[in-house]
This record gives sequence, C-alpha cells and structure tokens, in this order.
Amino acid sequence: MLVINPKRVNEEIEEKPYWYNYYAGYSHSFAKSIIETAGLNESSIILDPWNGAGTTTLMSSVIGHKSVGVDLNPVMKIIATAKQANRSDIGIIESKLLGLPAVRAKKERADDPLFLWFRDSGVTAIRRVERAIVKSSKFVSVSAKVESLEASECVLYTALFNCVRTYLKDFIPSNPTWIKKPKNDDDKVDVGWKEFKARYTSLVLDMLNGLRVEEHIWPADRALVNVASSTRLPLPNDHVDLVLTSPPYCTRIDYGVATLPELAVISIIGTSDIDDVRRSLMGTTTVPKKVDAPTAGEVGELCFKFLEDVKAHSSKASGTYYYKNLLQYFTGLSRSILEVSRVMRPNASFVCVVQDSFYKDLHCDLPSMIVELGGMAGLKLDQRHDFVSKQNMVNLNARSKSYRKETTAYECVLIFVK
Ligand SMILES: C[S@@+](CC[C@H](N)C(=O)[O-])C[C@H]1O[C@@H](n2cnc3c(N)ncnc32)[C@H](O)[C@@H]1O
Repeated sequence: MLVINPKRVNEEIEEKPYWYNYYAGYSHSFAKSIIETAGLNESSIILDPWNGAGTTTLMSSVIGHKSVGVDLNPVMKIIATAKQANRSDIGIIESKLLGLPAVRAKKERADDPLFLWFRDSGVTAIRRVERAIVKSSKFVSVSAKVESLEASECVLYTALFNCVRTYLKDFIPSNPTWIKKPKNDDDKVDVGWKEFKARYTSLVLDMLNGLRVEEHIWPADRALVNVASSTRLPLPNDHVDLVLTSPPYCTRIDYGVATLPELAVISIIGTSDIDDVRRSLMGTTTVPKKVDAPTAGEVGELCFKFLEDVKAHSSKASGTYYYKNLLQYFTGLSRSILEVSRVMRPNASFVCVVQDSFYKDLHCDLPSMIVELGGMAGLKLDQRHDFVSKQNMVNLNARSKSYRKETTAYECVLIFVK
C-alpha cells in the first residue's frame, strides 16, 4: 500500500472540496492512494466505520469500488450521500430548485431550534427550502427522515447546510467544533426569503456545475451510507476487504456540537432529538451519572493505565467528569475495534489514521493504544507511519498549552491485517 501524508493540503485540487468543509478528515489523495494500492478486485467492499463527511465512500466510488460508510450522526449521512450524487441526479435537483417559490410558508413551531440563531423570517426561509426538499412532514424521527433521502435530496440539504452556515459566521469561532449563541434577540440573524433563496440557489448551482464536469464511471451500486454505531456495525462477519478510517478524536471534541446548525436544520421535534444524537457520539462532552470502571482486559493495559492516571490527576474534575468522559470514549473505541475485526475478511487490511494528544500533562498515545486494542481483537500490525502534524486537534484545547511546551503532534497511519 502506498501511504502518503494524510493531511489535507491542496483542497482546491481535491474531489468535491466545496461540498461541505468538514474539519475532521484526511485528504482525498491519501484515501485514493490507499484504495488504489490495496490489491482490491471488482467484488471488494471497503468500509469506513466513522465515515464523517464521507471521504472514504466518495473515493471508493470515484475509483469504482463498492463501499459502506457508517456514522452515528445523521448529518454525516446526508453529507456523505450527497457526495455520491452524479450527473444522473442533475435533472431532479434542477426541478426541485425550480419548485422553491411554489412552496408557501407557514408559521414555524416556537420550539424550532433554528430560532437559536435566526429571527422569524430566517427560520421561515430555511424551512421553506426544507419543505421543497422533503415533501412529507410525517416523519416520526430524524432517522426516518434521513433514511428516506435520495442522493439528489442530500445535495439539496448539503447546500442548505452551507447556506445556513454562511449566515452564522459571526457565531463560529476559530475552533470549528464550537458555535456561539446570540446574547439577545437583536443579535439574531435577520434574513428574508428573497435574499436567502438567491444565496441558496447560487450554492446549488455551484454544486451542479461540479457534477457536470465529473467524468468517473461510478460503480453499479452507490456507497451504502448508514446511520449506525461503530460499536454495533450493521454488517455480517467476514464481509469487507479494506477498512479505511479515522476514529473520533480523543480530545473532548463534541461532534454533535460541531454540527449543531445542521442538526437544527434536520430536527423535527424541537431540540430533544439533537440532544439524543449528541449524547450518543463517541467523544461527547455529556457523561452518564454512573459508570462501571473497566478492567485492563477490556480496554487494554495502555488505555487502562491512562484512565487511572487521569483519575488520579490533581486538576479539577479529573477524577470525576474527565475520567467518565474518557472512559466512555475508550469503552466505545475498544468495542468498535472488535467490531471492525469481526466484519473483516481473513487477510483484509485495516488502515487507521490517528493522532496522539494530551490530557493536561498526560500523553494520550492513541496510536499505541489502538495497536494494543487491534492485537486484542485478532489484528496484526503490519505497518506504522508517523507524520508530524503542526496544526492539529491537540491545539484546539487552549488550556492544554499551559501544561505542555510542545504542541507538535503526530498523525499516525496504522495498517493492520486480519
Ligand atoms: C474523525 S471523524 C471521521 C472523519 C472522516 N474519516 C472524514 O474523512 O470525513 C469521526 C466521526 O465519527 C463519528 N462518530 C462518533 N461516534 C460514533 C459512533 N459511536 N459510531 C459511528 N460514528 C461515530 C462522528 O460523528 C465523526 O463524524
């Protein structure tokens, strides 16, 4: 396998870079290089159990392979599925776009989470577009709604997410995983239908132009993108030939908060379904009241030792909140790696892009922890490549800087064989 630096550098020459800028991901060229040199054949299946914005599923389709993407955040399913759209979807997208003005606005529910940032006219405009994308309003859950979406509808949703974000610029700080709320109603975004529609339409047209110039021959089956947990993969044993992924970061990144505006757009019952998604993601900042301490046999010696060190750390809430938070993360990680191994065919490869990080002054050597967990799950480490990564998620946690002099982290590519 040809392993190049996974860091995203030349976004402009990448495939569909403008579709949704997800901060968490490796480059398309990295994924392409791995997939092309993995010795796959026509019947091979590629899996990404933490598919995010769908780099793996996109590049699998571009190269012509079947793939399965799994992510617990329904927003990610929409974005990854949008990237599976191709020229055959252009007509339907155009006709939905033309249908926009015909949809009449109605009074929005007072508990609509979009009211967090937008005034009445903005919320009405966003919902008016949304109603043109999905005609039915009878969905009982966000997952039912998201499951029903075709690739063309996901393109329209992705443009809506991007459009909403352009109005939220003042609320999105440099840390891409946080979003501020307006202090009072006067600070809320004031946008009317005409302006919103014009901006939205131009974003969709950009995407359509992108689709028009594509020349790939797509595989007969588009990638299957599922809303599911990596801890319970919806796949049979011995099923996939290559796993290419990067796990959620171990730096208390709240993936739910990172996509709060998008979750607000797809929500259907006020904010409670958003909270459910947030709580379920690995790395969530919400922790359960009570947790059962794991044994080293469950999470591996390295994770176990790290957790014990966090628990004993003198800083505030280390032994309570942070310990529970990290425990939740490592339990999820070890279960997920067992699942990955279960669904891999014998001799299949597992390529995992992972960074180390720090909790205060404690080094979290996630690559080595994953090597250990892989071994426990019956996977043999075949290669390890370390790349220095100056800008990384470690630096997002500003407070960690007061504990450590050096903020260089390593982005590590681990390749296991079953
Ligand atoms: C580092 S990102 C993956 C980036 C992705 N490889 C890309 O290129 O866009 C990790 C992803 O894991 C997802 N995630 C968190 N907990 C999960 C779980 N239990 N099961 C599946 N996905 C989960 C998050 O929603 C996030 O999108």
